[in-house]
Amino acid sequence: MLITIENVLSRDEVRQFRTYLEAAAWEDGASSGGSLARTVKRNEQVDDSAEVAIKLGNHILRTLANHPLFVSAALPRKIYPPRFNRYATDGGYGLHVDSAIMHVPNSAVSVRTDLAATLFLSEPDEYDGGELEIEGQFGGQAIKLAAGDMVLYPASSLHRVAPVTRGARVASFFWVESLVADAAARATLFDLDQAIQQLTPLLAADDARLLKLTSVYHNLVRRWATT
Ligand code: NI
Repeated sequence: MLITIENVLSRDEVRQFRTYLEAAAWEDGASSGGSLARTVKRNEQVDDSAEVAIKLGNHILRTLANHPLFVSAALPRKIYPPRFNRYATDGGYGLHVDSAIMHVPNSAVSVRTDLAATLFLSEPDEYDGGELEIEGQFGGQAIKLAAGDMVLYPASSLHRVAPVTRGARVASFFWVESLVADAAARATLFDLDQAIQQLTPLLAADDARLLKLTSVYHNLVRRWATT
């Protein structure tokens, strides 16, 4: 399941993020990533422990905590602190798969990567190439979103960032450990929750059918969630 969430950040927030990130210290992204990843990764990243990364990352986390679509789709238990990367011209990241477990630097916390997220911070017309290409059950998809929009996709999928041939692509990316590890179960819960959300304004709050569906939703979460 691949979900696009629009306007996670407003235009003003994106502008502020970009101002902060332009002044940040960028380092070679090949210093992180597995030994396989290192051979195919050409980008720059802000150090996780940099004040600017923590500040902007926390802003994203606070926003997502109150975002109904994100919560419904991800059922998050833990979120890896958002990181920031930049693919300048000739940058790219070849086909790879993300590690199953990510250790949060300078902590004892690890995150099982059920979902991966990319929050775009550059507008599509600022660069050529740079699509996030995700392989899925029904073929590949190339994702290039407006600044402030985010894609959420299974971290188990093979993916790459197509070479940037003009300009620069700035983004935030992170992983989510879900309360529901099984992707098919999580997708079913998402569909059910979205249907309930769509029916809610059409029916009385005490409509017996709506209450039944809501109870089925919570009973399935109870059955499938691990805490
Ligand atoms: Ni990746």
